[in-house]
Amino acid sequence: MSKRIGLMGCGQVAVYGHIPAIQETPDLQLFAIFEPDPDRAREIQQRFGVPHAFSRTEDFFASGIEAVTITSPAPCHRENVLDCARHRLPALCEKPLAINKSEGDEMVAAMRSAGQPFHSGFCYRFSPVALKIRELVREGAIGRVRSLRLIYNWHLHGKYEISHDGSQILQRRREARMEEGGPMVDCGTHQIDLAHFWLGSPVTRFTAHGAWIDDYLAPDHMWLHLDHENGAHTVVEISYAYTHTAQNRRSEFIYELIGTGGIIRYDRDLESFFMENASGRHDFPCSPEKDFIGLYREWAAALHSGKSDLLATAEEGVHVADLARRATDEVMAGRVQPLS
Ligand SMILES: NC(=O)c1ccc[n+]([C@@H]2O[C@H](COP(=O)([O-])OP(=O)(O)OC[C@H]3O[C@@H](n4cnc5c(N)ncnc54)[C@H](O)[C@@H]3O)[C@@H](O)[C@H]2O)c1
Repeated sequence: MSKRIGLMGCGQVAVYGHIPAIQETPDLQLFAIFEPDPDRAREIQQRFGVPHAFSRTEDFFASGIEAVTITSPAPCHRENVLDCARHRLPALCEKPLAINKSEGDEMVAAMRSAGQPFHSGFCYRFSPVALKIRELVREGAIGRVRSLRLIYNWHLHGKYEISHDGSQILQRRREARMEEGGPMVDCGTHQIDLAHFWLGSPVTRFTAHGAWIDDYLAPDHMWLHLDHENGAHTVVEISYAYTHTAQNRRSEFIYELIGTGGIIRYDRDLESFFMENASGRHDFPCSPEKDFIGLYREWAAALHSGKSDLLATAEEGVHVADLARRATDEVMAGRVQPLS
């Protein structure tokens, strides 16, 4: 029996990622959407042929949905999850799960008291590339992994956009993500999660550095160093200001794992994914870094069986969000002012 799914927040990622993926998952039916903007709710309902669309949460939760996926902006996640707990429904929530640890702990506790499964929707885990890396690490194909370099430098769709009246304005989505904490708190959570997903070893210590290309409160270019319990080290480099004002936009997306027996390297933009070890070079098929369909297949299975080895738990989501937030806060607090 397919589960009736409700989705909260019909923005960009819902439209290009979540909605199509739910509709392609045989065991799920996208039954209802909630979107505070009624025009947007109607537009998305018609575009995707969703049976029900609501702009009031009471109506959404009364519609007969059996599980909820949350794709609203991070500051709304707490309220959305607490509503799921109140209505005793399982929830899958976009990253960053919470804006700080105390809100995250409150969300986890509410879902636990409601006796409902609660997962963090890290879609990078389900890319065939990420799953292959996990398999290679587990079988020791490059020996013991000692170092990870995870790089994502991009422009977050550029600094400016054109408004309805044709004038150039600051790009609103980028402004919102920078106000919510910037690149480490937003996209960097995927990389922090992958380090843990691949190594299976908790972080024992972190240090962070930042650069301000633009003048937001949060740095728009950041480096995070993580020491893991098993002695491995991860560095995450992430930027939202890489070619953000340039005519030609570029990005850099790299995973590199360095082990005692070789390396694994994935470069999304060069479409290259290979391993070098004692038996030579091994090339693997490339795929994008995100996989929403894989995420929803696994969630559908978990909703039926009650368990999953691959989905991130909400506790993991809170831990990752907290790490990214604390690292960003430390960098902001230690910002060195230029000498005049
Ligand atoms: N996994 C990924 O690859 C990925 C990519 C982009 C964004 N995201 C995450 O997805 C979330 C949404 O990002 P986006 O870029 O789609 O944002 P967006 O601003 O484009 O869309 C958010 C939508 O949520 C609606 N909304 C506002 N308040 C709400 C509330 N209280 N409850 C429900 N919906 C509400 C807004 O009206 C809007 O339609 C963020 O947490 C973001 O970090 C994840």
